[in-house]
Amino acid sequence: MKKIVLAYSGGLDTSCAIKWLKDKDYEVVAFIADVGQNENFDEIKLRALNTGASKVYALNLQEEFVNDYVFAALKASAVYENRYYLATALSRPLIAKHQVKIAQKEKASAIAHGCTGKGNDQVRFEVTARIIDPKLEIIAPVREWEFKTRDEEIDYAKKHKIPINVTKKSPYSVDINLFGRSIECGVLEDPWHEPPEEIYFLTQNPKNAPDKPEYIEIDFEKGVPVKINGKKYDPVSLLHELNSFGGKHSVGRVDMVENRLVGIKSREIYENPAGTILHSAHNDLESLVLDRETLHYKQGLSYKYAEMIYYGLWETPLKKQLDEYFNKVQKNVSGTVRLKLFKGTATVVGRKSKYSLYKESLATYGKGDKFDQKLAEGFIKLWGTPYQK
Ligand code: ARG
Repeated sequence: MKKIVLAYSGGLDTSCAIKWLKDKDYEVVAFIADVGQNENFDEIKLRALNTGASKVYALNLQEEFVNDYVFAALKASAVYENRYYLATALSRPLIAKHQVKIAQKEKASAIAHGCTGKGNDQVRFEVTARIIDPKLEIIAPVREWEFKTRDEEIDYAKKHKIPINVTKKSPYSVDINLFGRSIECGVLEDPWHEPPEEIYFLTQNPKNAPDKPEYIEIDFEKGVPVKINGKKYDPVSLLHELNSFGGKHSVGRVDMVENRLVGIKSREIYENPAGTILHSAHNDLESLVLDRETLHYKQGLSYKYAEMIYYGLWETPLKKQLDEYFNKVQKNVSGTVRLKLFKGTATVVGRKSKYSLYKESLATYGKGDKFDQKLAEGFIKLWGTPYQK
């Protein structure tokens, strides 16, 4: 019997996948990756076994996720199509890497995932796995099986007594980790339809958010957030804390139509309380400490880097070279940023750093001005010379 390691979430697709793979004569080892979904993993483990998995691995990957994936993306200011902080996209190469490790340990010949053939996640899982171990066969049951709709799949689960949590009434597809939450399907498939309040989980309705703004201060060291309001946090608790600060003030809701790698436009809703706060704060600190040319040059590479993460190219040489570049740029990105959280917004209202390049004596229009305005005339003449007829 061939052995296969399935990336298992406990959801409908991967639960049906266990049964489907077993019917194809595979011994199924289920792998549950904890990237901060905040779920009952004992229950999910049990569900995998009850559905027919021969063995279950449940690994807590939260710390590695934040340190090596989330913070790398933050240092790179990686945002896809200006709005998506890549929470889902960042988790995939991490899960795939550990899945391959388990497959090697278990001497499995194959790995499987529950992604559809229309999405980006299949690409991220498979490209990553192939780069790390090209010998493993990859099976994507959802791409192959015969169900045309989710309802048919639910019926299949019921028929085979597969324990599942979904009902036909809750049609959303949700992915969640420490860095954010992605929601699609159901009424959201109509891009004109306003997202119903019921889809949100991390952020409360702005109507109920506090009527008074709340201020927070975040300290960064070399581009990495280390303190909130003067108190040190380990990376995982720091994200939890910022999610609850942001969630309380409804910060980080995004409603966008994005371009998938496979060529489809799709409508997705994101909740990124921590991501929104961190990216705003980090960008602002960079504006203070990076010289103009570095800042502008970096922006072009951020765009490229975000695209690479979105496209599943995490384990590629260029992505790793870019990490080295971004880490170098972060050398002086240390300091404190002050934000005001209020009714859906996280606004930076102050920033300071010992590496600040801001010179009040040059910027001021008040007393103590050291800028010699007379020099501007000659500068402008030379600057415009190439374009003068
Ligand atoms: N569109 C996002 C991405 O490609 C999220 C995908 C998963 N979304 C979901 N609701 N299951 O990274």
